[in-house]
Amino acid sequence: MAGSTQFVLSPAKRLEGEIVVPGDKSISHRAVILGAVARGTTEIRGLLRGDDVLRTLAAFRRLGVSIGDDGDTVRIDGRGLSGLREPDDVIDLGNSGTSIRLLAGLLAGRPFLSILTGDDSLRGRPMGRVAEPLRKMGGRIDGRSEGNLAPLVVRGGGLRGISYLSPVASAQVKSAVLLAGLSAEGETSVTEPGLSRDHTEKMLTAFGAGVRREGLKVAVEGNDRLKACCVDVPGDFSSAAFFIVGATILPGSDLTIRRVGVNPTRTGLIDVLRQMGGRIELESLTETGGEAVADIRVRSAPLKGVTVAPEIVPRMIDEFPVLCIAAAVAEGETVVTGASELRVKESDRIAAMAHVLGQFGVSAAGLPDGIRIHGRGGGLEGDATGRRIRSHGDHRVAMSAATLALAASGETLVEDTACVATSFPGFLELLRSVTRL
Ligand code: S3P
Repeated sequence: MAGSTQFVLSPAKRLEGEIVVPGDKSISHRAVILGAVARGTTEIRGLLRGDDVLRTLAAFRRLGVSIGDDGDTVRIDGRGLSGLREPDDVIDLGNSGTSIRLLAGLLAGRPFLSILTGDDSLRGRPMGRVAEPLRKMGGRIDGRSEGNLAPLVVRGGGLRGISYLSPVASAQVKSAVLLAGLSAEGETSVTEPGLSRDHTEKMLTAFGAGVRREGLKVAVEGNDRLKACCVDVPGDFSSAAFFIVGATILPGSDLTIRRVGVNPTRTGLIDVLRQMGGRIELESLTETGGEAVADIRVRSAPLKGVTVAPEIVPRMIDEFPVLCIAAAVAEGETVVTGASELRVKESDRIAAMAHVLGQFGVSAAGLPDGIRIHGRGGGLEGDATGRRIRSHGDHRVAMSAATLALAASGETLVEDTACVATSFPGFLELLRSVTRL
């Protein structure tokens, strides 16, 4: 139902078969960014053609980079950091937090003016977290609300390396500072309170940058000699997550998701689902570009509620909405804390998920930094004549609601689902292809 703004879902018996999910969003952004500033032709296979990544591609075209796409392979003709040109217009990054924050970092080091903006949701998200360290490096970053909100005005150039102690475990903050570090004099390092996804450091290494890691600290040297590379993008674990939970909660399911990225900084959901009683196996483990890849086999299992350890939250930050779905059908209470970052995602995901669960008749209370969910222990009752769920304009909320709808009674309408195209074009068709009614 491409282009549709609502999903209509009926209850399903089980999920069964084998699927491949679209390419990893985080790795796709980084492949485009590093390909654009390396020297030579970077070839990317499996790039996610979701709106967010298309925004990053369009941004680099505006920055003067030549990019070809034959539908299979994307080829980027990189001419080094110094090959980027001042954009002749405002760069609109749509809904994509990764695009705006990573570009703010990269462009802070380039000697020209860039103006970065996005949609209503993105213009409401905090940018001070990247502007602040970039200013410490000598960058001139301005924006609404004293530089905390986009549009951001970046007057780049003249950076020096810093050792930055980040107050949040955020891969976007870490990556913005490291990308700025490529244009800076000397070494730039970031130390995080907990390890966030480490795709940037892995890919910088693959492109020939000298990256040093010591525990939670990662450092890079100024470097305009990155070498073009071939990137094979694995399936996105965060997209697979809806199918992992769907197959877990629908009795009799047996589903395999092929070639998914299983970088341990991303797979906290598997650990938590296993604690809850989930049956998830990783098969045919391999590696590409330093990233672990596997087939994920999921069989249904009855779940029990858990208290999620706050330390695991950075490893499953994007899987919170779909974990709420698993918790809704589990027996007993699930509590998540240490997750205040969820308040500043594409939506306030704590409020959005408490609201969605309530509409399915599941009792859920938002906490300042998490949620408390009273699981129904199996089937969901409620209005069988059709419930209408708002997506809150958030792709992961929409897909989570669709997943729970399969286990509910009666028909469910998920409204305002155009946002799903940011990360998972073809989600509904893929879900239908493995749904047994
Ligand atoms: C991302 C980092 C995370 C994540 C987002 C993608 C990335 O955001 O939620 O979907 O690709 O670097 P934060 O850095 O804000 O935690």
